[in-house]
Amino acid sequence: MSRTIIISNRLPVQLKINNGNLSAEPSVGGLATGLKSVHREGNGLWIGWTGLTEEDTPKAMEGEIDQALAELNCAKVVLNAEEIDGFYFGFSNRTVWPLFHYFLEYSEFELDFWEAYKRVNQKFADAILEVATDDDIIWVHDYQLMLVPQMVKEKRPNATIGFFLHIPFPSFEIFRTMPWREEVLDGLLGADLLGFHTYDYERHFLSSVRRLKGLEVSFNEIYLENRVIKVDSFPMGIDYKKFHNAAKDSATLSGKDRTDLQIKLDEHKKAAPNTKLIISIDRLDYSKGIAARIKAFEYFLIKNPEYKEKVRLIILAVPSRSNVPQYQLLKKEIDELIGRINGELSTVNWTPIWYFYRSLPFENLIDLYTKCDIAWLTPLRDGMNLVAKEFVACRTDQSGVLILSEMAGSAYEMNEALLINPNNFEEQAAALKEAINMPLEEQKNRNKLLQQRLERYNVEFWANEFMTALKDQQNDENVYVSQ
Ligand code: ADP
Ligand code: G6P
Repeated sequence: MSRTIIISNRLPVQLKINNGNLSAEPSVGGLATGLKSVHREGNGLWIGWTGLTEEDTPKAMEGEIDQALAELNCAKVVLNAEEIDGFYFGFSNRTVWPLFHYFLEYSEFELDFWEAYKRVNQKFADAILEVATDDDIIWVHDYQLMLVPQMVKEKRPNATIGFFLHIPFPSFEIFRTMPWREEVLDGLLGADLLGFHTYDYERHFLSSVRRLKGLEVSFNEIYLENRVIKVDSFPMGIDYKKFHNAAKDSATLSGKDRTDLQIKLDEHKKAAPNTKLIISIDRLDYSKGIAARIKAFEYFLIKNPEYKEKVRLIILAVPSRSNVPQYQLLKKEIDELIGRINGELSTVNWTPIWYFYRSLPFENLIDLYTKCDIAWLTPLRDGMNLVAKEFVACRTDQSGVLILSEMAGSAYEMNEALLINPNNFEEQAAALKEAINMPLEEQKNRNKLLQQRLERYNVEFWANEFMTALKDQQNDENVYVSQ
């Protein structure tokens, strides 16, 4: 029977070993949270890294780890500390991530990183080759594994391979700066179908293929030797029902079932019912524009002092990639900014910014989505931004305002949000004012349309669309005959 084999750097769970005890935590990030819903449904297998280093994994626990993963239909690729350094912290997150998010000046072109990336991509490809048959569908995910499609195709020309990029594909002018640009394109072109979140990312990719590889490209097809490769945009959705229903349940939870944060938020709402709560939720990443958002909030309060004590910004930032210097610098910058602004603007009754630097359990996340009045998401670049969609899905009474950066992939589908340019503080301050004062009727009208769209184009729809297109590729003879 044909299976779907998902392969990504992160598995949906991260394993930890404490005093010889194995535990698993859900992985954070759009790829893991989105794909989890797809994987749960099928008879597939998910191959990826557990988050443990080889050195930290006692040999005696291998069996227990394999079994725990097998119960989740997962299998592991083992990485040692040196590989994690060069491949994950290095090429993936110090070369590709900044470059593809237009932070050219952060991107490091180190030969050692590139060599590690090739070696580890081969390891992932070998893990697929070991288990996959020609009947299986292989779905490779994201920027950490861009060489895998070709590595698999070389050994298994009949395999059906899909690739989805969860981050932006940058314009040709940015992409061309990478020393290994052709090798990366060759790697991706091993896939039969390539998917991107937006039409713009798809167009940028096709333009790079045409200009760097000189290949024939017609509309969304690439002709390579005797193969036809399809390229398309598939905007990723969320598990709408899961968020919507959890928000409904959260409203009915009472007493001892509530967590500390839920109780604190309830107390706050009671004590200051007219204070508008603004939330921002992201991984601590420079692409998310967190520092600029904090500065824009200060700008707003200084320009509009009448809103002091009337609004509060809750910043929830999940620790991410903390071995990478740019992330350490950003953490320091955010700590200092919040300390300074809270020091300068607080009153006896009011602190403008509440800051949490941690990952939260699902119920707490839902509670924040439902208890706040405004979600303010200002990425400087973001492949999609699922947080924007999760916030809207949780507004069961259709109240609430979303302020969203036009640089996020999700902005293309969320026109009813207040769309802003994150570099324009004037515009951001005006959007905050508009959000704070927006009549309930208007909030509902906007959210109703957004919810209808999110419910229809959910994560299941996304996966089905991609799989249908990939299966069409599998069924087609897929042989290009030159005219
Ligand atoms: P990215 O993939 O770049 O991290 P997304 O907005 O697409 O950005 O996805 C982030 C995912 O991580 C969302 O599903 C969100 O619910 C989850 N998440 C964000 N912050 C937290 C947090 N503090 N605790 C738990 N989950 C979080
Ligand atoms: C983004 C990327 C994912 C990644 C996630 C979390 O969503 O597209 O591939 O898994 O961020 O980042 P991390 O480095 O912790 O895996």
